[in-house]
Amino acid sequence: MNKVVVGAQWGDEGKAKITDLLAQDADLIIRYQGGCNAGHTVVAHNKTFKFHLIPSGILYKGKTCFIGAGTVILPEYFEEEIKGLINEGIDVSGLKINPLASITMPYHTEVDGYSESTAKKGKIGTTKKGIGPTYTDKMARIGLKIEDLYSEDALSEKLDIILPLKNKTLKEVYGLKTYEKEEILALCKKYAEIFRPYVCFDWQKVLEDAKREKKAVLFEGAQGVMLDIDYGTYPFVTSSNPIGGGAATGSGYGPTMIDEVIGVAKAYVTRVGEGPFVTELTDETGDKIREIGHEYGVTTGRARRCGWFDAVTMKYAVLVGGLTSIALTKIDVFDSFDEIKLCTAYKDKRNGKIYTSYPTDVFIHKYLEPVYETHKGWEQDITGITEYEKLPENAKKYLARLEELLEVPISIVSVGPDREQTIFKSK
Ligand code: GDP
Ligand code: IMO
Ligand code: MG
Repeated sequence: MNKVVVGAQWGDEGKAKITDLLAQDADLIIRYQGGCNAGHTVVAHNKTFKFHLIPSGILYKGKTCFIGAGTVILPEYFEEEIKGLINEGIDVSGLKINPLASITMPYHTEVDGYSESTAKKGKIGTTKKGIGPTYTDKMARIGLKIEDLYSEDALSEKLDIILPLKNKTLKEVYGLKTYEKEEILALCKKYAEIFRPYVCFDWQKVLEDAKREKKAVLFEGAQGVMLDIDYGTYPFVTSSNPIGGGAATGSGYGPTMIDEVIGVAKAYVTRVGEGPFVTELTDETGDKIREIGHEYGVTTGRARRCGWFDAVTMKYAVLVGGLTSIALTKIDVFDSFDEIKLCTAYKDKRNGKIYTSYPTDVFIHKYLEPVYETHKGWEQDITGITEYEKLPENAKKYLARLEELLEVPISIVSVGPDREQTIFKSK
């Protein structure tokens, strides 16, 4: 069985915990998009591990973990992450990088930082890791790929095309520092050494063998459906495709090889950075969720915006994400709540129009208010429960209502950050 783990909201849904759990039964784990904008937390062996680029399956010895072609890699950040894992005693020998992955160059992070710090209007609130500018160059066909680092002639030829253009833009548009070819060549030499132990030039063979031998592949997504470049709350999105379809383009394994797409969603919603968020709570209930759920960014430390579960965007995520089931996380955060709200529709304040399907024109989101139904809380600690039947009745009712609204089964319920704090409702 080949499974994709997709964030079904605006990121930080607990994807890494679910990936780590499912990785037990996988032979190959492939991270398919994004870069070190991701912050993925796994709690295992009484330790907390934070991953940015490296697949969350790396904690299991003997598994092959790929950083896929659809990703963008910031070399210095990658180096730091690898060193951190080695220092923790983690065996990273199973790590492989697809040579088609893109490289984030210093000018990408500089442009990202510049755009974010000078924008008066339209600030995205990016992680400033150069994600947008790296993907922009990839699409404009002036990006550098990992494989370029190992071919002096190709690199030199490419730089002769890229650099004059790049320098003109850096200087005239952004007023930023320009680069000499020699400087970039020296950097690339350093990058080649950083990646050398991990670059997998025969990745096609590895995937062909895996296919022939019917190995179990787990595709790990970063970010979430609502941050997808095509389907998210554009322009307040990231620059890649976290949706299930992204697993096919970003991994090198085609769509016919995917059996299941598991959407990870919190029992509430969080968002970091700017952009519309209809169910956002800017009151003490939002603060309570943030404090109990420890909702602070792994990559940037920013406080996450919090709000009630939004079944309107989630239904949309089921469709565009291609979800076959849901892993619902952090339901334990509601243990002390006497009531829990659930948004089933949006109402336009200007004319009373009701939306039960997600309106993709985010310009109108500022006029939308959530229509809620209220559920009774269970007011008990559920963090030690490992069987679905043992959950309190009110928790089961809440889960059943979600399944009814979303028309997709909830296969996993997570009641705490640890591997053990997981209920497999159906596998
Ligand atoms: P990701 O980016 O989707 O992998 O998620 P993050 O790691 O950014 O954020 C999820 C946070 O929630 C991490 O600190 C996890 O350890 C934690 N977490 C995951 N599942 C649960 C859960 O069911 N309950 C609680 N209380 N915490 C959880
Ligand atoms: P994981 O994988 C939450 C958000 C940023 C910003 C927008 C664009 O941990 O769920 P970017 O740096 O990608 O150009 O920023 O996307 N963002 C995330 N939010 N979790 C993430 O990753 C995110 N990666 C990017 O905050 O709003
Ligand atoms: Mg995260």
